[in-house]
Amino acid sequence: MPTPHNNAKKGDIAKTVLMPGDPLRARFIAENYLEDPVCYNEVRGMFGFTGRYKGIPVSVQGSGMGMPSIGIYSWELFNEYDVDNIIRVGTAGAVADSVELRDVVIGMSASTNSAYASQYRLPGTYAPTASWKLLSSAVNAAEEKNCRFHVGNILSSDTFYDDADSLADWLKMGVLAIEMEAAALYMNAARAGKNALCILTVSDCPLKGLSTTAEERQTTFRDMMEIALEAAVKVK
Ligand code: HPA
Repeated sequence: MPTPHNNAKKGDIAKTVLMPGDPLRARFIAENYLEDPVCYNEVRGMFGFTGRYKGIPVSVQGSGMGMPSIGIYSWELFNEYDVDNIIRVGTAGAVADSVELRDVVIGMSASTNSAYASQYRLPGTYAPTASWKLLSSAVNAAEEKNCRFHVGNILSSDTFYDDADSLADWLKMGVLAIEMEAAALYMNAARAGKNALCILTVSDCPLKGLSTTAEERQTTFRDMMEIALEAAVKVK
């Protein structure tokens, strides 16, 4: 049954969905990594495709930018389309000194400055956490590759342009990298009893004023995608 944001019918979407922020990236992934991709959604240009990877059904759909946007799309995938696993594949800014441009960062947990958790009316602070099943599969896949990767706490921020300049404070707490979606994804997965993971490539370093070229992003994008797809195969 279609939702206000997704034209797909039940059964059109695989149990495992990869979610880049950019819907054109979703199309690129479908066309370059999946066998026989079929487009299931074009509402608001938020393309979604289902194909196969190593014979296993996998979907890929854009999430848009920020927690409200991924909050809507991932909620519908988990609760309306019976999706079991969502793996966000995106870019991040480095925060920790050990994290360099082009490294892969796997989000074991996602701190946040967002009020997303307030809807659950918890009498304390919730810790958005990745699914162990997806996390361990992705770490195994990363270890098999010759790439630099880190696993730990990331920051999901409501602001890209941060007037408070707060990154140095998050750095003191061991945060590895900053992005804008994982915490809401992890909370939606927890609430639905499903699995989520966020895998990132470092596209810039806001504290040092560095960024990668589009060409460099392409190479590390490949490492991240291969880790995500291998994790999808392992949890099928
Ligand atoms: N901030 C937030 N999100 C990001 C960044 C950043 O510096 N880089 C890539 N995604």
